[in-house]
Amino acid sequence: MKETIEKIKEQAKEDIKNISDMKILQNIKIKYLGKKCELTSILKSLGSLSIEERPIIGNLVNKTKAEIEELIKVKENEFKKAEIAKKLEKETIDITLPSTKFIRGSKHPVNRMIEKIEDLFVSMGYDVVSGPELETDEFCFERLNLPKGHPARDMQDSFYITDEYLLRTQTSSVQARTLLKYKDCPEPIRIIVPGKTYRKEDDATHSHQFCQCEGLVIDKRENHVSLADLKGTLEIFVKEVIGDNLDLRFRPSYFPFTEPSYEVDVTCFKCQGKGCALCKQTGWIEILGAGIVHPNVLEMNGYDPKLWGGFAFGPGLERLTMFRYGIPDMRYLYTNDIRFLKQFDRKEND
Ligand code: PHE
Repeated sequence: MKETIEKIKEQAKEDIKNISDMKILQNIKIKYLGKKCELTSILKSLGSLSIEERPIIGNLVNKTKAEIEELIKVKENEFKKAEIAKKLEKETIDITLPSTKFIRGSKHPVNRMIEKIEDLFVSMGYDVVSGPELETDEFCFERLNLPKGHPARDMQDSFYITDEYLLRTQTSSVQARTLLKYKDCPEPIRIIVPGKTYRKEDDATHSHQFCQCEGLVIDKRENHVSLADLKGTLEIFVKEVIGDNLDLRFRPSYFPFTEPSYEVDVTCFKCQGKGCALCKQTGWIEILGAGIVHPNVLEMNGYDPKLWGGFAFGPGLERLTMFRYGIPDMRYLYTNDIRFLKQFDRKEND
């Protein structure tokens, strides 16, 4: 019996020595130490031995098992270490490689312009309000004195979603919304409404989506909000957001929601008024529409035109942005070229 055990041990030693991977080691473990291994069978058959032999063989089997177990453990550790070493070698980081380029965004010039305008008007006591871009025909047109079939609707090619809903063509829709909001208890209004607007036009100088910033001032008649106030306000506006040395020109015009109405031009920033391709040789560039709020608009939206009156204006923001930063082509603003946008990275405070 002793010899058999000795033989098993020798065989196990030999087997373990020659193992080349972890999987085989697991099989060897089962072969020599598992429930059905030879050594276990010997233990189970101890009963057939003499009383003297039993403890001797029992001890020997246990000792042998322990030895084999130890040998397997040592081998196991060897394999584990080799595996870790292999992994480390494979996963080493080459710190000399250049990292992935991370492009940081920056505030868009039109958004900078909006913030600038908000700062200015808030400092003059205006509130900044917003309205929906998906607007009803009622607020975009009807409540602004533009009934269905009115020829002036052709001034703005609209994206209709249904018969009733469209993408707003002008931020003026928020004039009607604001007046209506206070109609039961009318009070003076001083708001600006920066936001996106949409028109069905797409050529070199127009985009189907652009930004406007409506302004609306309504006060009691006895406070005499007049054209002079509108002019003064727009002069400050142009001076602050574009630059000091520009002239303003008021041209009589037509908008259904203002009477009288004006289009306001400023000296062309590119040629300083001498005439160039940008200003079509006129020396002037139009930047906004404005006027005295039409009594019909007040009436339709719950303000008595005998008691209340005021002015409204609505510049397009892309042009103002071009003026401010000397951008020669409006399309730069919407092509999302990172090289263009990055130029505004550091102009945090202007
Ligand atoms: N909403 C007009 C436009 O988009 C501009 C405007 C605003 C005119 C306010 C008068 C008063 O052309």
